[in-house]
Amino acid sequence: MHFALETLYVMVMSVYYTMEALIQLVVPSRRKSLAGDLVLITGAGSGIGRLMALELASMGARLVLWDISQEGNRETARLVKGKGATSVHSYLCDCSNKAEVYTVADQVKREVGDITILINNAGIVTGQKFMDAPDSLIEKSMEVNSNAHFWTYKAFLPAMIATNHGHLVSIASSAGLIGVNGLADYCASKFAAVGFAESVALELLATKKYGVKTTIVCPFFISTGMFDGTITKWPSLMPILKPDYVAKKIIHAIQTDQTYLYMPRSLYLIIALKNILPTKTGLLLGDYLGAFNFMDAFRGHGKRDSGIK
Ligand SMILES: NC(=O)c1ccc[n+]([C@@H]2O[C@H](COP(=O)([O-])OP(=O)(O)OC[C@H]3O[C@@H](n4cnc5c(N)ncnc54)[C@H](O)[C@@H]3O)[C@@H](O)[C@H]2O)c1
Repeated sequence: MHFALETLYVMVMSVYYTMEALIQLVVPSRRKSLAGDLVLITGAGSGIGRLMALELASMGARLVLWDISQEGNRETARLVKGKGATSVHSYLCDCSNKAEVYTVADQVKREVGDITILINNAGIVTGQKFMDAPDSLIEKSMEVNSNAHFWTYKAFLPAMIATNHGHLVSIASSAGLIGVNGLADYCASKFAAVGFAESVALELLATKKYGVKTTIVCPFFISTGMFDGTITKWPSLMPILKPDYVAKKIIHAIQTDQTYLYMPRSLYLIIALKNILPTKTGLLLGDYLGAFNFMDAFRGHGKRDSGIK
């Protein structure tokens, strides 16, 4: 195309899409029904995974629950059945183990069918300064929080591409957008998860597989127990998020085909500022927001119970 014509086209469409986004801020988007969808949630045995399962159960979705914890997964299955879910399939799966992911994925395809919504949610945190963290935990963080996403996509994306229908959901973190003192390996794994999900989303668009939707979720700390002890300096600006709120927002994002979901909303501004401010100003702002001390009193799960029933 002619340079001037193409430039004009981009300018007009940019204005159009910006107006569209502004309108969507006030006019609620249409929500797609998830009834009958076959949804796989990794890390379904507690926290956000369990709460998303409960939310999806009440919408008539069929559920495949994966977790490394048999006990947690069983409890989630019991709870979602109590919510009226009729199709619930639990599998013990260590997502950090590629061979196990492929084996259990084949079992799911044989026994239940093709997954239409894949939620990569399983996650762990080391919570130690990088030089103190054992190599084994650093490797495990990468395996669970990012590599596992490669293997689940390889297992379940082909059927979505073949039918040009499906949804890939990556539960990443605000730590996948901005570095955090005391979370080096976790941030590395979440940055990887974001970069991977974003790139596959582009591959799908480039091959015109518009029916396969993608959502990348980046929340700040959530009170599930995973980050127990972490501190937020200004709770009104950067609140520790409520698990129930987060789960509902994620399901809403899936229903409205939202590509990125950052929580709380102030995170959109903080990430934009990080990218445009001079480094020293950005560090000043980071210090003001308490970013150097988030992890000072971190305890994490310690106890395994997230307190979510
Ligand atoms: N809690 C937070 O503050 C927070 C903030 C941002 C993002 N996240 C992300 O949200 C997701 C859910 O976290 P959560 O807060 O519900 O934590 P959680 O610890 O309550 O849940 C994580 C689940 O993943 C499972 N799991 C861990 N390793 C696994 C493995 N190898 N294979 C299969 N399952 C495994 C655990 O058994 C557990 O049920 C994670 O990816 C986490 O990184 C959490």
